[in-house]
Amino acid sequence: MKKTVPNRSRLTAILPHMQNAIPRQPQFIQLHREDHAAVRAELIAGLLAPTATTAPKYLYDALGSRLFEAITELPEYYPTRTEAALFTEHKDAIAAALPAGATLVDLGAGNCEKAARLFEALQPSRYVAVDISVEFLRGALLRLQRQHPALEMIGVGLDFSSTLALPPEVGDGPRVLFYPGSSIGNFTPTEALAFLTQARAACQGGGLLICVDLVKPTSILEPAYDDALGVTAAFNKNLLLYINRLIGSDFAVQDWAHQAFFNTEQSRIEMQLQALRDVTVRWPGGQRIFVAGERIHTENSYKYQGADFDALLRQAGFQHTRVWQDAQGWFAVFWAQGI
Ligand code: AVI
Repeated sequence: MKKTVPNRSRLTAILPHMQNAIPRQPQFIQLHREDHAAVRAELIAGLLAPTATTAPKYLYDALGSRLFEAITELPEYYPTRTEAALFTEHKDAIAAALPAGATLVDLGAGNCEKAARLFEALQPSRYVAVDISVEFLRGALLRLQRQHPALEMIGVGLDFSSTLALPPEVGDGPRVLFYPGSSIGNFTPTEALAFLTQARAACQGGGLLICVDLVKPTSILEPAYDDALGVTAAFNKNLLLYINRLIGSDFAVQDWAHQAFFNTEQSRIEMQLQALRDVTVRWPGGQRIFVAGERIHTENSYKYQGADFDALLRQAGFQHTRVWQDAQGWFAVFWAQGI
């Protein structure tokens, strides 16, 4: 005879007094599947382009993610602490502007800490953590579920930078999409508009709470991406080691120097790796010769004027917006209502 394991709802229907005895567990849904051939083809095409370019997502292997966490603690890297201070200062006003009891969808959730700090003020009906792999979320969500046993939690493995298609398990009600960290700056403005347009559709009448880094003096911007300890340099160069593993290339870290500068015309920090000498990089089936001084473009981090970002939100279909900024006007938290 086939044995069935009673699930939580069936068990509590039979034994209602068990309701509180069975701890709630987060649900995990992995949608993104890594296509190794596509990754390899994309990386090689980027390396062979006239200006060699790699997508910023290749900065984030396990070590890259840890180096990024270290960056957020550096004195020069103002965005993380400015954002945290804004949420502390304006918590009540932000909570009052947002719909109560919505599903909170945390985009790029990682350790889920930023969203968890909003639970008390927002009182979400459900918490959905989204990251490229549910494996990045598992530990954090299990811990969070123990702290908030009544809150339904779902972990979704999705590459939302290409399509923001949430699974049906996320539910029908209004959603507050939460996109902190100013990661929108790592998209080109065209990609940012496509993302915001999808977010408008995905919020189901709720809205988008999004953090944006603003234009400020170059003397503040450049050290934030070229710190005295060299952590950002290590973060940038680590990309070469990750690429070696992904395509079997033979990049040597010591052949490359970290560069970061503010491109005023494009309003973006550009991160690059510059060849310190003539270098031939080989991988199975191909190679590229870099002459001394030649660069690989590894990341853009766009900085917006507040009014320009507001215009972008409106272009994406959001009609009502609110903004909170720090006194220096360095960083902004936008609330964009879905209807
Ligand atoms: C993740 N993102 C918002 C960071 C930024 O500031 O653009 C990535 C980063 N790159 C270098 N330092 C930080």
